[in-house]
Amino acid sequence: MCGIVGYIGKNSVKDILLDGLSELEYRGYDSAGIAVLQDSNFSIYKAVGKLENLKNKTKEFHPKGFSIGIGHTRWATHGKPTELNAHPHIGENSYVVHNGIIENYQELKQRLSTEGVHFLSQTDTEVIVHLFESHLKRLKSPLEAFRAALDELHGAYAILLITKSAPDTIFFAKNGSPMLIGLGKDEKHFASSDTPLIGLCKDVIYLYDGENGYLTSDAIEVFSKSYEKITPVHKALPTSKLSAQKEGYRFFMEKEIYEQSQVISDTLMGRLSKDTILFEELDEKLFEGINEIKLCACGTSYHSALAASYLFERFAKIRCSVEIASEFRYKEPMMSKDTLFVVISQSGETADTLETLKMAQAAGLKTLVICNVDNSSMVRAADASILTRAGIEKGVASTKAFATQMVVFWMLSLYLAKLRSSLTSAQLAEQILLLREIPATVVVSDDLHEKIRRLSKRYLHGHGFFFIGRDVFYPLALEGALKLKEISYLHAEGYPSGEMKHGPIALADPELFTIALMPVNLLYDKTKSNVEELSARDSTICAISAVAFDKADDFIQIKEHKHYMHEFFEMMVVLQLFSLEISVRLGNDVDMPRNLAKSVTVE
Ligand code: G6P
Repeated sequence: MCGIVGYIGKNSVKDILLDGLSELEYRGYDSAGIAVLQDSNFSIYKAVGKLENLKNKTKEFHPKGFSIGIGHTRWATHGKPTELNAHPHIGENSYVVHNGIIENYQELKQRLSTEGVHFLSQTDTEVIVHLFESHLKRLKSPLEAFRAALDELHGAYAILLITKSAPDTIFFAKNGSPMLIGLGKDEKHFASSDTPLIGLCKDVIYLYDGENGYLTSDAIEVFSKSYEKITPVHKALPTSKLSAQKEGYRFFMEKEIYEQSQVISDTLMGRLSKDTILFEELDEKLFEGINEIKLCACGTSYHSALAASYLFERFAKIRCSVEIASEFRYKEPMMSKDTLFVVISQSGETADTLETLKMAQAAGLKTLVICNVDNSSMVRAADASILTRAGIEKGVASTKAFATQMVVFWMLSLYLAKLRSSLTSAQLAEQILLLREIPATVVVSDDLHEKIRRLSKRYLHGHGFFFIGRDVFYPLALEGALKLKEISYLHAEGYPSGEMKHGPIALADPELFTIALMPVNLLYDKTKSNVEELSARDSTICAISAVAFDKADDFIQIKEHKHYMHEFFEMMVVLQLFSLEISVRLGNDVDMPRNLAKSVTVE
């Protein structure tokens, strides 16, 4: 949800800022902007829409020599995606970029307006720069003024501020939104994630909530929330950016679908023995006294959690409930200490999920996070973490992250089954053999992809899609519908097959498309009856199964598998490709669909 970058040094500030923003564009692309301060002069550029527009605007801008700069790519929260609302926001002599939400901005805005400040934008961010300048008039010291401004801000933020009153300095603060400092040779950087820094820096400093300070060309000053000096820890940054490039695929999403076999192998690596799951990162004590698991997440991660709840109850015989994080936050939930609270997040930064983690901790629950990003806010906050090893996921529509979450959940349910003796050694050994075979089940064959590409042309219209399934195939149906919505903008719903007759079947007609998940190894006959009910009402049916179904209008055949989880994984690939090809035919932006963002760090 918004990406920010900053730079101090002698190299090409414009290119460094723009390259950094292009790595962060998945976080929001409603507008982008940069501000560069050189020889006490500001240069400022903003453009609505994708970064490309800002690149075009800055073609003639070639700053040389020492400078400082900040940049921002926006996912609009307060105020429309206009140029006036684009960051950086200006005061009299200062600029600011911000990721997060300033919750008390209205009262601050009112007060500053009575002091004579004229606001240009509708954003919450603009108050920061005016607040700083108002304090600067009184305090004279930019650092004191920055701190006085921070003391008045409520909410989540990662902030960079530059000012003519300290022309070689970038002030920064982090609270609830991600930010790190990159240390290059004779230069320093800021970024919302480490990707923009790969290749530029060897070491980074991950900032923690409440931390703030300033950088100059020769100083890095980091302070705690109460402004005590901190000695920051330097950490090594990975060196290869290759895996973050498209490598010949049309879209990152497509590349990420094809990568699933590899990243699932990576996720399994070192974690399987003959009849045991090895999670080196877990201490068995985490599960002592635990009688229930509560899973909490948003979006795609919520769907993997929902599917996992079937596995936990079935294999580990442990009570399991699932919560949507944004709902859980305000429902005044009952939390008991014999519940292990598990959050699931690709990014580890989703604001709602992070907040539920903090709530559970405050209530004294033990916590675990399943996450794809090491050092993310959730990983740092939880008692324990399991990393999904999906690698950088760039497509906004999550694919390989979901796949690896499901693999971790399957493994975790077996890990618990062993601890709780709910499966025999022979059963565990059998399950582990199945796990080893997942990478082969998700390999995309040319035939399958071509079949789905051809079929996709029949599904570009209609008044809606119902993706239906039972058991773990119900959350998979939800995920299939979400994928389609996200990148095709067509209306789609996921539904439990057996629930269609309780209302939605009223919609059935030839223009209602039913995508039926029909695994042979799980409740096949039950699902078949439900699909027949829809077929009898003339809904257009696309069946996905290993066996042909004579009532279907279209049929996507998957391989024959011996276990329903293998059918789950292959159907997952089918649904991902189905959405992708429909989106391509509709001419949509597959990797950066409208109105969405990869990482949602606001409520
Ligand atoms: C956004 C993304 C989704 C993602 C959700 C939760 O909405 O567009 O793809 O599933 O956030 O993100 P998380 O990083 O917590 O898994």
